[in-house]
Amino acid sequence: MTALETPLEIGGVEVPNRLYRAPVLECAGNGETAVDTLIDELEPTAASGVGLLFQGASIVTDRGGCAAPNMTRVHDPTFVERLERLTGTIHDHGGRVFLQLAHGGLRSMATWHAEYRRQHPDQRQLAVSRPPWQLRALDRAGMISLQPDVLSTSEVWDLAEQFGRCAGYAANAGYDGIHLSAANMSLVQQFLSPFYNRRDDEFGDGVRFLEAIHDAVREHAGDVPLVTKVPAETPSPSFVRRHLSRADGVAIAERAAAIGYDGLVPVEVSPFWDMSIVRGAFPDRAWDASDLQDDYAAVFGGRLRAHAVQLLNRLQARRFGHEPGWNADFCRAVRERVDVPVLLEGGLRTRADCDRYLGTTGDNPAADAVGMARPFYAEPRLGARLLDGEDALCESCNNCTIPQVAGEPGRCRTPAIVREQARLKQDGAYERSE
Ligand SMILES: Cc1cc2nc3c(=O)[nH]c(=O)nc-3n(C[C@H](O)[C@H](O)[C@H](O)COP(=O)(O)O)c2cc1C
Repeated sequence: MTALETPLEIGGVEVPNRLYRAPVLECAGNGETAVDTLIDELEPTAASGVGLLFQGASIVTDRGGCAAPNMTRVHDPTFVERLERLTGTIHDHGGRVFLQLAHGGLRSMATWHAEYRRQHPDQRQLAVSRPPWQLRALDRAGMISLQPDVLSTSEVWDLAEQFGRCAGYAANAGYDGIHLSAANMSLVQQFLSPFYNRRDDEFGDGVRFLEAIHDAVREHAGDVPLVTKVPAETPSPSFVRRHLSRADGVAIAERAAAIGYDGLVPVEVSPFWDMSIVRGAFPDRAWDASDLQDDYAAVFGGRLRAHAVQLLNRLQARRFGHEPGWNADFCRAVRERVDVPVLLEGGLRTRADCDRYLGTTGDNPAADAVGMARPFYAEPRLGARLLDGEDALCESCNNCTIPQVAGEPGRCRTPAIVREQARLKQDGAYERSE
């Protein structure tokens, strides 16, 4: 048995193997069809043998906080109860499913999505501190829209409590664990980051917020496993001088493990909008899609601005290399200092990547589990092929990512890959006996 096929224990819960689906948006929203959409998105992956599925970022408040269109909110226990159908389906396939809890803070749609702002002119964004000058400058230039509500100390406690309540609803609905969205410029990252956090109360130490959330989760959801992303902000642009170094990230990870987090996902991301999370090619096909031009103009506040964002996107694609396992060194540094499982994601595409980073081949494992995100948009049943020794089709072209700003579902939009997936499906490559 290779390391990939070996079970892993996270916070007392056994995961059948070490392959996970990293959190990506399912774009399910909260409407009548939300649960069916989530099942459609996640069941094939569980059926393909993936041991652990992280459902994408789900928002803990009843308004605001969504970083992208069609995110699901989990503040309402009646809605979350309905997700029992999803968790039951995943369990029927022998998989485990964790819910990722999130809030966008200053990254919310009201900030960057012009059409959304037009429809929600009064919506305010939760903020850790007064926004940094770089964001205020963009606001003054009309590039983004800021109406920040800086959280008081008691509001921070209330928000942590709300994360805990949602974790309780999730545990009742059969989720096997909770994942905390603490990277990708989310509100939790904003607490951890010196770029955003200038508070002079106890939450000036952002790890206190991680601790408050941990305690609230324990109060409402008992011993359910709790995993968090851990950011280092090493890819920050040069105009972001205050940011988390890798050493800061390792220190946060150590403290999170000491607080009681059961698993850690170290990721090197920026505190600013950029491609540090989704490193890969410039998605020219997605930008050129004729059916999306009006949508892009609406999202970015006009065609000229949409072109400016496109240009920035092109420059970004050049700036970030996308070597497989770009978070591996950070993971290794964390793994040396903690006893809880460390999970690696970011650019992994081949079975050899999985084996190398888990230590089946090579002698310096980076992680206890390996995950992929975009490859599951291309091949929902990818697990079967990876577990069989094959490689993912995804080439990180990013044609799946940009259309999501316009509310499009997350799916592969590269014809050659879509065709190859269909051929493999016809040939039975995704079949496996359960
Ligand atoms: C469209 C999209 C949505 C994502 N949504 C989330 C999310 O909800 N929560 C999160 O922690 N990471 C999110 N990520 C980041 C992924 O979990 C993952 O770290 C990243 O895509 C790198 O892995 P990959 O190269 O296998 O795609 C998202 C990535 C993409 C492409």
